[in-house]
Amino acid sequence: MGRFSGKVVAVTGGASGIGEATVRRFVEDGAGVAFADRDAERGKAVAVDLASQGAAVHFVEADLGEEGEAARFIEAAAERFGRLDVLVNNAGIRKYQTVTEASKESWDEMLAVNLLSYALCARAAIPRIAAAGGGAVVNVASIRSIVAGPRCVQYDTTKAAVLGLTRSMARDHALEGVRVNAVGPGPIFTPFHERRAETLGKTRDAYVEEFGAETMLKRPGRARDVANGIAFLASEEAAFITGTCLFIDGGQSVI
Ligand code: NAI
Repeated sequence: MGRFSGKVVAVTGGASGIGEATVRRFVEDGAGVAFADRDAERGKAVAVDLASQGAAVHFVEADLGEEGEAARFIEAAAERFGRLDVLVNNAGIRKYQTVTEASKESWDEMLAVNLLSYALCARAAIPRIAAAGGGAVVNVASIRSIVAGPRCVQYDTTKAAVLGLTRSMARDHALEGVRVNAVGPGPIFTPFHERRAETLGKTRDAYVEEFGAETMLKRPGRARDVANGIAFLASEEAAFITGTCLFIDGGQSVI
């Protein structure tokens, strides 16, 4: 019996990186897991891999920045498994622009994916979680929720807002039995960073060394480190924790 046996978890952006590690973590802990991603190829590959090992998984192709897609995903998750206990809002994108460079269209996309998809998935999920007897929402924020990166104004703004969203939702839904927390990852080496290293023309080793240099541990974290924190916050072990953010950043935010 895993600690999430009989429970159902919905994860956004579950085809890659932290989202994929989170899907795998909950599957190992016995949950039924529905996950959405706009990358159908990767999403299907993860679902086929897990299903071949006997896992109860359901992949939904969805662009969560588009109107109606958040609600469609949560409905599909609840319909497939008949209940919903946990929502993990993880899908996120980055853009490297200053406020004087970023267009309104660019802001609209960042806000739609990194912030509104979190709120709209929660809007659809919270009544179902409450109806299942209570559970948890975990939002993936960032160390950038509290410190600014260079030319990251839109990303940093949306990630700061995720902390506000987390606190407000926690307060409003506590008495329905729904705890709401965030994780704040620091440098976590994921497929996003593999692509970024290529774009910057850096070798993987050089990128990794530089990426982790500002942590106390002098290395980046793994997607699995964040997934472990998410699973803890979603579990009964965290029954008295709500409205807060767990930073998983190798100590970077307090140096
Ligand atoms: P990733 O790029 O490897 O994975 C993100 C996934 O989200 C991808 O599968 C992508 O297709 C999906 N996605 C993006 N936009 C979507 C949309 N509109 N609809 C559906 N799916 C969409 O990235 P990574 O690194 O795993 O990031 C996951 C989350 O963790 C993001 O919210 C990111 O901001 C956050 N984070 C990551 C850190 C890191 O160092 N990797 C640090 C702090 C926060």
